[in-house]
Amino acid sequence: MMSYKVFARKWRPQVFEEVIGQEHITETLKNALLSDRLAHAYLFSGTRGVGKTSVARIFAKALNCQDRQDGNPCNKCHKCIEITNGSSVDVQEIDGASNRGIDEIRNLRENIRYLPSSGTYRIYIIDEVHMLTLPAFNALLKTLEEPPEHVKFIFATTEAHKVPVTILSRCQRFDFKRIPIAKIEEQIKKIVQKEGITISDSSIAIISKEAEGSMRDAESLLDQVVSFAGNNVKDEQIMEVLGIIDRALIYKTSQAIIDGNSTVCLDIINEIYNYGYEVKEFYKEIMVQFRNLIVALVSHNTSNTLDLPDNELQEITKQAKQASLERLIQSLNFLINREADLRYTTNPRIALEAILLKLAGLKEYISFDELLGKIEEIEKRLNTSRRIAYDKQPEPTLIKEKYPEKKPAPDDGKKWSEFLRYIATKNKAMANVLKKWKSYTLTADTLELSNEEGSFTGNYFKDSEHSDNLIAYARAFFHPDFTVLFTKQNQPKKDVKKGSKEDRLPSTVSDILDIFEGSIVKES
Ligand SMILES: Nc1ncnc2c1ncn2[C@@H]1O[C@H](COP(=O)(O)OP(=O)(O)OP(=O)(O)O)[C@@H](O)[C@H]1O
Ligand SMILES: [Mg+2]
Ligand SMILES: [Zn+2]
Repeated sequence: MMSYKVFARKWRPQVFEEVIGQEHITETLKNALLSDRLAHAYLFSGTRGVGKTSVARIFAKALNCQDRQDGNPCNKCHKCIEITNGSSVDVQEIDGASNRGIDEIRNLRENIRYLPSSGTYRIYIIDEVHMLTLPAFNALLKTLEEPPEHVKFIFATTEAHKVPVTILSRCQRFDFKRIPIAKIEEQIKKIVQKEGITISDSSIAIISKEAEGSMRDAESLLDQVVSFAGNNVKDEQIMEVLGIIDRALIYKTSQAIIDGNSTVCLDIINEIYNYGYEVKEFYKEIMVQFRNLIVALVSHNTSNTLDLPDNELQEITKQAKQASLERLIQSLNFLINREADLRYTTNPRIALEAILLKLAGLKEYISFDELLGKIEEIEKRLNTSRRIAYDKQPEPTLIKEKYPEKKPAPDDGKKWSEFLRYIATKNKAMANVLKKWKSYTLTADTLELSNEEGSFTGNYFKDSEHSDNLIAYARAFFHPDFTVLFTKQNQPKKDVKKGSKEDRLPSTVSDILDIFEGSIVKES
């Protein structure tokens, strides 16, 4: 039986042309070899699994190869084969993480003095070089200051910022890039074809996306999937093995939110639980989805701005066009603001349900056109001939500090306005309702709110979600035992006042105008 070799090792590039996505580096190195303009030390930096070690080995082989071909190693001569096997005495790979100390570097300096056995160079590849101790770096520096002609250093690191500048300044530096999804997809397609694996394009797309720019991660994920599913991979097995949330489910969720379909939202949450998906992971995906929908609507070149596989670019644009930009931004803001709810709850499912239902309800809740429609309806009922419009749409950004301190507080005006500002960062509508509040008493431990029955603001806290949220905000802002009381006011105030246009409106309309920061621009 042939010994099993993981894809990452089996598919290690052996010539510069096989290295994907790092052409800026491989071309430069090849040219350096061809023109014989070589540095003494090279530093390869970049995230995990993007080709640093692979390129270091190809370069080392090319340096010592007896039959170099157009800047590439032949991979056939005994020099090349020794290096590939790791048995070459001239090319040493040192793991900086486990040989961190001064002794190892002293050792290295001793060895450096000897000439290479028969090849051209003695090459030291030091991986994770940032792990060396300071004395080890200093010892290394001495060597780098007066390097023997026959010695080359190749340092590799995932954390170049931890390498002392004294070392950096003596190296020719190459920054390896994350590999674009499309290129990872292409390589995985090549691998599955050669390995005789059947797997759908959409599954390959999922693997490539999960790898986050690392080719090794993509290959390891493929390993994982194949060892679970065999050579015939089915789409649902990918989700199962990788614990990834089905992309279709994410699209279904955003669609349900856009449509304002609460039933579908609840079904989806059920599905998430049945599959055993991580709720926070799902929430993160939904946030990313809304961000992508916004970008899809705003951007003219989505293949540049969205790092999504091709088949999704069309789908996301199609979905984004069904919603307004305003609505998408509001939804994303809402998700950002509610993220903490999920973190601190003992029951993530209920929190998630509340959030998604609210999000689906945002449609009726704050859509500008519908709001306008509703106000016009009220207006008709009041049998007035006023025409109402707004000078601007409700701001999607929840953080804004522009509240005029209209009302002197009986107890502590400063604390009250600080509290209002805090609430404004959490929930703008609620802050506006409170700003409008007719009567309140604030002490160190309680906030008593009293308002006339039947007014729009008065009804706002009848909704237990609003009042629960207010209590939670108050406890977070003041202290954990803080109490909020809602009481009725005895003498209802008269609605009609003299003054600006807005002041002469019925209270319901003026409340709505205040909460959504609207104003009347024209009266007939
Ligand atoms: N640019 C690339 N082109 C093709 N395959 C690659 C590339 N980068 C990585 N791979 C694949 O991943 C494996 C590991 O790559 P390599 O050891 O070169 O990564 P690395 O950058 O040194 O990672 P680490 O920082 O974890 O050491 C390779 O054997 C190869 O299969
Ligand atoms: Mg490496
Ligand atoms: Zn060779």
